Amino acid sequence: MSSSRGYFHLHLPNPFTTFKNNNNNNKMFFQRLFSMANFTSSSSYSPKSSSSSIQTVYDTCKNNLTPSVAPSTKLIHDITSKLDTIGPADVGLKEEQLKDDRGHGFSMPNILNRVDRWAQPITYVGLNESESFTMCMFCFPTSSVIPLHDHPKMTVLSKVLYGSLHVKAYDWVEPPCIKDSNDVARGPVRLAKLAVDKVLSAPCPTSVLYPETGGNIHCFTAVTSCAVLDILTPPYEESAGRRCTYYRDYPYSSFRSEGDPIDGKEDEYVWLEEIQTPDDLYMRQGMYAGPPIQI
Ligand SMILES: [Fe+2]
Repeated sequence: MSSSRGYFHLHLPNPFTTFKNNNNNNKMFFQRLFSMANFTSSSSYSPKSSSSSIQTVYDTCKNNLTPSVAPSTKLIHDITSKLDTIGPADVGLKEEQLKDDRGHGFSMPNILNRVDRWAQPITYVGLNESESFTMCMFCFPTSSVIPLHDHPKMTVLSKVLYGSLHVKAYDWVEPPCIKDSNDVARGPVRLAKLAVDKVLSAPCPTSVLYPETGGNIHCFTAVTSCAVLDILTPPYEESAGRRCTYYRDYPYSSFRSEGDPIDGKEDEYVWLEEIQTPDDLYMRQGMYAGPPIQI
């Protein structure tokens, strides 16, 4: 299994410098979360037996995804149909031990500043990274947030393994509609349209976002303790123009003017401003405890 450090670095460049390793509660959560499921030496699982579900997903990705060609509709369907069969135990998560309620509650009011709203530790588990794709998991405590960020030139398949996750996602309005702000402390803002605003509760089908559609710019908020298995293709790679950028959103009315290219309800549009990786977003790295994946 290759290192996940590249993904960490590229996807979330700053949070990992702010890991909080010594908090007892976090440590307890970490230990509970990644306790082994039924894949110890007493398990009936053997690498020489029939392939595990996650191995089948991996093989399909490895044999078909490339760093330069976007996956076909047929290939995406093939991968999602396999991801749809994956549950927590297939990747070493023991569902009954994943109760966690240390969050602040899902509906804490703060409309404009989603970035500053939550600061709960999220655990990242890298399964594999190659030139063609990244396979990884994010494990969210209740109310934790991955703030609004993008996946430029990428396709991302996301399977909620357990729990409930609120997804709010946007796509850019094209051609770009960009406005400078009169506030010197604020950069330009760009118009985006709402694409997804829903809660995904396991078991549910795999979600897919595309380079231009499907909600490429998204925010995750854990309604309950939950986990997501992600496949990103191709991976983040800054030198190839695939850098992860974080955004702050403003209501459409904040910068409304005549002639804006809106089509539909004003509340479906937002203005997005690029921001630095939020200081209060921090993650910790977890160990993969599922069946071995043969690379
Ligand atoms: Fe994302």
